[in-house]
Amino acid sequence: MELFLDTANLTEIRDAAQYGVISGVTTNPSLIAQEKGRDFHEILQEITQLIPGPVSAEVLSTTAAGMYQEATKLAGIRDNIVIKIPMTREGIKCVPLLAKEGIKTNVTLVFSLNQALLAARAGATYVSPFVGRLDDVGHDGISLVREIVEVLRLHNLSTKVIAASIRHPMHVMEAARVGSHIATIPYKVFLQLFEHPMTALGLEKFQKDWEAKLK
Ligand code: G3P
Repeated sequence: MELFLDTANLTEIRDAAQYGVISGVTTNPSLIAQEKGRDFHEILQEITQLIPGPVSAEVLSTTAAGMYQEATKLAGIRDNIVIKIPMTREGIKCVPLLAKEGIKTNVTLVFSLNQALLAARAGATYVSPFVGRLDDVGHDGISLVREIVEVLRLHNLSTKVIAASIRHPMHVMEAARVGSHIATIPYKVFLQLFEHPMTALGLEKFQKDWEAKLK
């Protein structure tokens, strides 16, 4: 499973990029809005420079024509831009138009298997089920990821699944176990993946023992 970073914060992306384990970035209007005083296109330009892999940028229009217009502008920023399209009827109309132009898409705000199937049939490059937000309303987000992965495979659909709305390290492990192609994770969760108390304790003991030998 590949790891993407779910943030528009350049400091976070710059730091995470150093480890060589992050292969893409996803943003959304809420994440961009947190980067106060920064221009949307400028942020995307910098992110695409830091991360050579896919960088998702979301459109805000509500009509297919408006989304298409926005998408072609965003896609011009750099060739690793992926257009995030909301899972609406207008959004699904827009996906094949972009696919025809060779523009990659990530259908977002997916909360059901049927929505994922529609996105895949429309030719979406990626589909993003929102794990945490489903858990929030008492549904099992990871089960949806599992179902989508299985059904896309069963019907030979090439759309890749991005487990999104990841809230904690368990979500990352579970997404990997059910075969999600990608998990997009907040920086805080990314840092948590490195940690284990036994690693910290083990290292402390190695250091103490070594210092004692030197005395
Ligand atoms: O990028 C979409 C998604 O990952 C949002 O996550 O935590 O706002 O539900 P969250």
